Amino acid sequence: MADDAKRTIAMTSLGGYSTSRQEQYNQYLHKLRQDFIDTWNEKPQTNAKLCDFEKQKVLGTGAFGVVYLSRHVHTGRYYAMKMLEKEKIVKLKQIEHSYYEKKILCGLNFPFCVYMKYFFKDNVYLYYVLPFVAGGEMFSHLRKLGRFEERSSKFYGAQVVLALEYLHACELVYRDLKPENILIERTGYIKITDFGFCKLIRGRTWTLCGTPEYLAPEIILSKGYGMSVDWWSLGILLFEMSAGHPPFYASDPMRIYEKIVAGKYRCPNHFSQELRDLISRVLQVDITRRLGNLKNGVLDFKNHKWFAEIDWDGLLNSRIPAPFIPKVRSPGDTTYFDSFEDELTKESPICLFEDDFADF
Ligand SMILES: Nc1ncnc2c1ncn2[C@@H]1O[C@H](COP(=O)(O)OP(=O)(O)OP(=O)(O)O)[C@@H](O)[C@H]1O
Ligand SMILES: [Mg+2]
Repeated sequence: MADDAKRTIAMTSLGGYSTSRQEQYNQYLHKLRQDFIDTWNEKPQTNAKLCDFEKQKVLGTGAFGVVYLSRHVHTGRYYAMKMLEKEKIVKLKQIEHSYYEKKILCGLNFPFCVYMKYFFKDNVYLYYVLPFVAGGEMFSHLRKLGRFEERSSKFYGAQVVLALEYLHACELVYRDLKPENILIERTGYIKITDFGFCKLIRGRTWTLCGTPEYLAPEIILSKGYGMSVDWWSLGILLFEMSAGHPPFYASDPMRIYEKIVAGKYRCPNHFSQELRDLISRVLQVDITRRLGNLKNGVLDFKNHKWFAEIDWDGLLNSRIPAPFIPKVRSPGDTTYFDSFEDELTKESPICLFEDDFADF
């Protein structure tokens, strides 16, 4: 026993992750998966209403609605309230995705993912209320700095590795990894948001969804696909964080797709050998050769030399100093978010699309 303990310590200090440590971690993930499935199988009850919140400022907008900074009137706490317009969801044939997003957000429980605190609906909208992540989108920080030092990309990238490992353990494919959907906490750690394309899958799925630059070749080629698409988009993210632009880029999406399926890209000269090596193993068009999708699974990331300095357990427990700490002055401070015009909130005397969202 004592020898085993020593060996574990020695391995941790050398970096990397042993198979036995991974086996232990898998048990923890198994427990999280069970919790997720339990919530998935129960029907959560609406636990709030619009008048419990004071809408303050638009944080972001998307295809179906708007995200507002909102203050809970009873507790004074701040949240991000995502409002999705039922009419738009129906028109864009996203009813199933909106149910998935809600059920998934309700079941998530991982340090690097947002989760659902409250939800409800009214005549026009569906509402998801999430903890407010004050440091803003990784996207804004990345565009402001041009690119991140590899040390920072590594810190963020390692958290994404753990988050994807967790989601995949819950049988969830995320499908929308990109800097816009990664938020920075006050602590400097990340929270992945936007589960609008996330789906519980057993086996394969076929839907074409995601963001052009981040789409895996198997999605573009309309092949059935699985979790491998998230590892591909992690490869794109690692590249974009350290380069300041994605590896496959063009103004016309069709041209982007051609480049992706050809799988040819150039790394900037400043990329370290280790980063080049990692990216080349992830951006493999052939999924049977793609890192993350091989027989050692996520261990191949945890033991890759680019990640050698990462103490994975320390990271999970927020014991590693973050490379950047946002200067958030108060709990509802929106300094790190762009300014948007206030959106006109629609009203209706009757409940729209009542049947479509009866089970929401
Ligand atoms: N919990 C949160 N805290 C702070 N800001 C958030 C939070 N969730 C979302 N936002 C902001 O709102 C933006 C849009 O949210 P989100 O990505 O969920 O919606 P979307 O992109 O419109 O969704 P969809 O892709 O389903 O149309 C985010 O990029 C982010 O800037
Ligand atoms: Mg988004």
